[in-house]
Amino acid sequence: SLSAKDKAVVKNFWAKVAPKTAEIGGEALGRMLTAYPQTKTYFAHWSDLSPSSAQVKKHGATIMGAIGDAVKKHGATIMGAIGDAVSKIDDLTGSLSALSELHAFKLRVDPANFRILAHNLILCMGMFFPADFTPEVHLSVDKFLQNLALALSEKYR
Ligand code: HEM
Repeated sequence: SLSAKDKAVVKNFWAKVAPKTAEIGGEALGRMLTAYPQTKTYFAHWSDLSPSSAQVKKHGATIMGAIGDAVKKHGATIMGAIGDAVSKIDDLTGSLSALSELHAFKLRVDPANFRILAHNLILCMGMFFPADFTPEVHLSVDKFLQNLALALSEKYR
């Protein structure tokens, strides 16, 4: 699981890439759909699945918004003081349960695809921020995305 250091590294990197997250998400989703064409089946109702598609870019931004929420936001508060101390990144399974349910039961996305998207996101973070995406950042971001993929897979079983 994520160490305190992993969480700090991810939060710090996320703050740095914030202005580019929408663009990174669009590029990653476009690359996933092109380089892993089996993922296109889930988006068959879209008119354009190419990397330059406005729908792809928009949805890439939506995905990154959800991931950014998991990095930054505080979880649901049971009691103000305790809740305030708990960040979503500390409870990814709880924070992402609604999104997991949506992907499992409504969208019926094979959870193996979460890792494929994570791979494309990692690639694009390195492309957009080659200097900041050090091996240390790579390690923590990869761990974070694998934990996020696991949390999104929770409702499947
Ligand atoms: C929709 C997040 C991975 C397929 C969504 C939405 C979000 C989201 C926030 C919009 C939900 C809503 O409208 O309420 C994520 C995150 C992922 C992820 C954070 C992993 C990091 C995937 C993967 C696939 C997928 C790997 C398939 C290969 C879909 C589809 C929709 C959707 C088909 C509905 C799109 C539409 O018709 O507008 N996702 N997703 N997602 N997701 Fe994911």
